[in-house]
Amino acid sequence: MTQHHQSEPYALITGASAGLGKEFARQLAASGLNLVLTARREEQLHELARQLQQTHGIQALVFPGDLANEDEPQRIFNFCQQNGIVIEWLVNNAGFGLPGEFDTHPWDMHKRTLQVMLTAPVHLCHLFYPGMKARGKGYILNIASLAAFAPPTAGHTLYEAIKSFLVKFSQSLHLEGKDHGVHVTAVCPGFTYTEFHDVNGTREMVSRLPKSMWMHADEVVRLGIAAAQANQDVCVTGGKNRFIAWLSSALPDRWMRKLAGKQIQKYRKR
Ligand SMILES: NC(=O)c1ccc[n+]([C@@H]2O[C@H](COP(=O)([O-])OP(=O)(O)OC[C@H]3O[C@@H](n4cnc5c(N)ncnc54)[C@H](OP(=O)(O)O)[C@@H]3O)[C@@H](O)[C@H]2O)c1
Repeated sequence: MTQHHQSEPYALITGASAGLGKEFARQLAASGLNLVLTARREEQLHELARQLQQTHGIQALVFPGDLANEDEPQRIFNFCQQNGIVIEWLVNNAGFGLPGEFDTHPWDMHKRTLQVMLTAPVHLCHLFYPGMKARGKGYILNIASLAAFAPPTAGHTLYEAIKSFLVKFSQSLHLEGKDHGVHVTAVCPGFTYTEFHDVNGTREMVSRLPKSMWMHADEVVRLGIAAAQANQDVCVTGGKNRFIAWLSSALPDRWMRKLAGKQIQKYRKR
């Protein structure tokens, strides 16, 4: 592979083969950024890279891999280093839902979940943040969820905890980065049309939600990118979702549990 020019900034997007990640790739490419795309499905990544190179005249590189492997973040970082790729945007987006109660899954499944959605994003931040700080410019988007603000439910046990962690982590790193030109934003989407609910087998269940609760990936991504540019620490996407998040911070926890806990439980598979 040819050495890339140091001054051309790249965006690294995890989970770029579908849904929000694919849309982040589209919108960041349209803004003129080059891309490093990663996920497990190599064919989808190559097809997307080909399309975006053709449409926007950017460089789009594919680095397939499974983020459940502990050494994957380091492999991605080494690939960028070896090719002189400067990552200006890091979008930690890869993720999935795991319905069912805690004890119904083998430990290995929980371990993979924690690795993909918690350890890998933190590790990627740890690898790429110092370069951004040294250059005085960078954007980190950690894709969390409205679930971070929702009352706890039974089932999907680790999901809300992981997303809450991502929000808090992003807020702290945001405070550290803001004096160094590094913008860190936790993007918190509500229900969004992607492959997410097909992958975790809850499509039928969540399709009973009112249409007004759903957003399209292009709008969610547009809001997320704008929030990162404006250096917001948390971006809950959409007015309804922002109201729900606001309610849960304004109301005492036990009220919110009474008010919304039962409603949310209807859409969580135990
Ligand atoms: N859709 C929603 O309603 C919603 C709401 C709130 C938050 N979110 C969050 O948004 C993020 C993106 O989800 P989405 O809705 O776009 O879902 P999606 O359409 O299912 O896409 C998920 C992406 O993550 C990748 N991924 C999953 N496991 C991976 C692994 N082990 N290694 C590498 N990549 C992996 C998938 O790629 P491969 O399968 O090719 O590996 C895919 O590109 C997630 O963090 C999710 O929690 C979604």
